[in-house]
Amino acid sequence: MDYTIAKGAFDIVPFEKEEEDKWRESGRWQYLETVLRKTADDYGFKEIRTPIFERTELFVRSVGEGTDIVSKEMYTFIDKGERSLTLRPEGTAPSMRAFVEKKLYAQSGLFKYYYLGPMFRYERPQAGRYRQYHQFGAEALGNTSPEQDVELIDMMWEIYRRLGLKNLTLCINSVGDSQSRSDYKKALLDYLTPFFAELSADSQDRFSKNILRILDSKDPKDKKILSQAPTILNYLHPESKSHFERVLQLLEGLNIPYKIEPALVRGLDYYNKTVFEITSGELGAQNAIGGGGRYDGLTAALGGPDLPAVGFATGIERLLQTMLKQNAPFPDPPHPFIFLIPLGTKGLEFCFPLLCRLRHEGIPAEMDFSAKKIQHGLSLANALSAEYAVIVGDNELSSNRTAVKNMQTRESEDVSLEALFAYIKKLLDRKRG
Ligand code: HAM
Repeated sequence: MDYTIAKGAFDIVPFEKEEEDKWRESGRWQYLETVLRKTADDYGFKEIRTPIFERTELFVRSVGEGTDIVSKEMYTFIDKGERSLTLRPEGTAPSMRAFVEKKLYAQSGLFKYYYLGPMFRYERPQAGRYRQYHQFGAEALGNTSPEQDVELIDMMWEIYRRLGLKNLTLCINSVGDSQSRSDYKKALLDYLTPFFAELSADSQDRFSKNILRILDSKDPKDKKILSQAPTILNYLHPESKSHFERVLQLLEGLNIPYKIEPALVRGLDYYNKTVFEITSGELGAQNAIGGGGRYDGLTAALGGPDLPAVGFATGIERLLQTMLKQNAPFPDPPHPFIFLIPLGTKGLEFCFPLLCRLRHEGIPAEMDFSAKKIQHGLSLANALSAEYAVIVGDNELSSNRTAVKNMQTRESEDVSLEALFAYIKKLLDRKRG
């Protein structure tokens, strides 16, 4: 029997010893989630939560049959009712499914949504690539304007700025409208046909299924052949071209540096016009911390109204790993303000109600329940980084006085037991200003 964690998954725990594992500490996740939600609030995006599993056909239809995600990476299973279900590999298709199914388009106001949660892809696990991983994503519907594309890119860029990340590269491209794409596909086909026999097996397979996907190939020989391939930017029709130019102009206006990457087509089929990815030099092979683009036809394809849309998603694991590598700041973890050290039964009788009362007042408090040894209590207070410690044993109870010890300065203040609660409260009020 093997009861260990499944391959490609990981636990998020309060403390990790090794520096390289610190990204799995739950306090860091909570901090990140707070920043993500606050940024979403500031940009006017509302949360949408969808199930972890969906009907398989949702992803086949939206992400696309010829993509690696659908053809190789989905966790698909048949349930007891003979339905084919899939653990969501990404969040755009489920949120659009919910948008259509719940008729959110009938509401007044803006259609701007975000999600945060686990996603699943059966990939070969390695640093920065997991089988259960997490995304924060944002999607905006209803606008064709380039400003809408840039609102999303700016939001992504702002998240990274708030988190203190540096040296990121925004790669951007346009995959055009369907007419531009079909012209380009023809040109790519003409170019690749003489090289067909030299292409990798995967690319040969994609040649007839979805030729654009060949541009995703990581195979070195394919990459060499592709280096001379025609680029989509030369095939953009006027409307797509001016849309792209306006997006770039808006980015310049916001001082967001970008790199045009004509081979960037992204690994999902629903995109049109703008596509983008943000990479970090710190991440090695799995260097994309986020990506997105415009996907105007998706809501109609899912049976809803034909609304234009644009969005992005960022990988939480890669974000945290980049933050740690760049020494980005994290807030101090919560710790007890006061640590009570009772000695003996009487001390315990005095301290336990006090502990509860302090907490009811919103004062972070902790206590040594063993109530036996001062040293045990003090080392626990130290381990938890408590700010103050109080000892209450028989001596303190008979003299009705105790010392409130500042764990940092080692200074202590003598206080009567009746005044203890008020004194601690005053200390905290003073600290909080
Ligand atoms: P994606 O590029 O496939 O886009 O994924 C977004 C991000 O999720 C990646 O940039 C990466 O940081 C992270 N990620 C993906 N797979 C893994 C993995 N196996 N392990 C760790 N991190 C991973 C999408 O999913 C689109 N739905 C984004 C989007 C939203 N487009 C429009 N709206």
